[in-house]
Amino acid sequence: MTTPAYSPGLEGVIAGETAVSTVESGLSYRGYGVGDLTEHCSFDEVAYLLLHGELPTDTQLQQFHARVAAARQLPAPLTGLFASLPQGTLPLDALRTAVSVMGHFDPEAADSSHNANLRKAERLLAQIPVAIASHHRVVKGLPVVPARQDLGHAANFLYMLRGSEATPADVKALDVSLTLYAEHEYNASTFAARVIVSTLSDLHSGVTGAIGALKGPLHGGANEKVMDILLAAGGPENAEAWVRAALARKERIMGFGHRVYKAGDVRAGILKKYARAAADAAGTQKWEEAADIIERVMAAEKNMYPNLDWPAGRLYHAMQLEISLYTPIFAMARITGWAAHVVEQLDNNRLIRPRGLYKGPAARSVVPLARRS
Ligand code: CMC
Repeated sequence: MTTPAYSPGLEGVIAGETAVSTVESGLSYRGYGVGDLTEHCSFDEVAYLLLHGELPTDTQLQQFHARVAAARQLPAPLTGLFASLPQGTLPLDALRTAVSVMGHFDPEAADSSHNANLRKAERLLAQIPVAIASHHRVVKGLPVVPARQDLGHAANFLYMLRGSEATPADVKALDVSLTLYAEHEYNASTFAARVIVSTLSDLHSGVTGAIGALKGPLHGGANEKVMDILLAAGGPENAEAWVRAALARKERIMGFGHRVYKAGDVRAGILKKYARAAADAAGTQKWEEAADIIERVMAAEKNMYPNLDWPAGRLYHAMQLEISLYTPIFAMARITGWAAHVVEQLDNNRLIRPRGLYKGPAARSVVPLARRS
């Protein structure tokens, strides 16, 4: 048997085909650049694009909104389950459990056909924000706020979380971040979902596994670590000394670097102005100033540039969202990309089963138990 080429971390490996998005020449979803999408479309339109392949007409968008808004409720046992999870359970872990539970209650649980999966995906799109907001309020001892049918995805989430309507600026900023987080080709969590369903497992299993993959700080968990970094740096006065000392200790600066984008992430540039405006509104500009200093040092010392998590962490902090909600918000957007990839995988499925390069002991014979020392 010949030994195929091995690339650690699968760097540069083409692991499958996709029509959902590409990172070639900047990120685009189904042919539309993300800059164009954030400028001209709501996240709700982008969600439709990712799931259904084309931007919606006005009528299609209204029908989509009606279907998603009607599905904004959780299986009854979930609220009780949230209350019974151990104190300190991370919101993302609670969401992973919630999606698994949603699978039991989905009316089409046993149907993994193309159309059933799209209907299930729309329900997950609707239910995930409800689960995040409900868990948040249950652990705080606050009453759960029922979803509003008249609000878009971003506005309804903030309403359920806070119990009052958000400002248009907050809604727009969150909406843009959701569009930018919605899809990213063969990233780790999406690949995990594709691997899971390639066994002919179901959508909810794929999404549950994807949330597990998203959690780690090298992937989705990085947006929470960004604020830890800025808080540890302490503000603009200390930022340069802090980042230089962290680099000297060989620490990773979360929110910088990317497997694919070596010269910068187009998404980070788009979201930066929203992070800045939110900081101006909240009076928290010192984190923007500290971020600029860290960016300069990272470019000069490491030739490394911000990824989307860098402005996203700051934006959500300026919006006064709790840090442990940042990665769940990422999941609330990425459900669209995950589901689009799951459907695509199953439309033309072949089991994903790569090889490992063996590095263990040479062939040997078993010594019977009685003679083993
Ligand atoms: N800060 C400092 N050094 C870094 C960083 C960083 N953020 N990222 C990579 N390096 C160094 C790393 O220590 C290694 O150095 P050396 O060769 O001396 O050991 C070198 O660069 C190569 O690192 P790598 O892990 O092999 O590179 P990669 O292409 O596999 O890493 C990455 C990509 C995103 C995991 C990495 O850049 C990283 O850990 N960044 C911080 C975490 C982060 O922001 N993740 C979010 C990614 S974008 C959003 C998403 O898709 O979820």
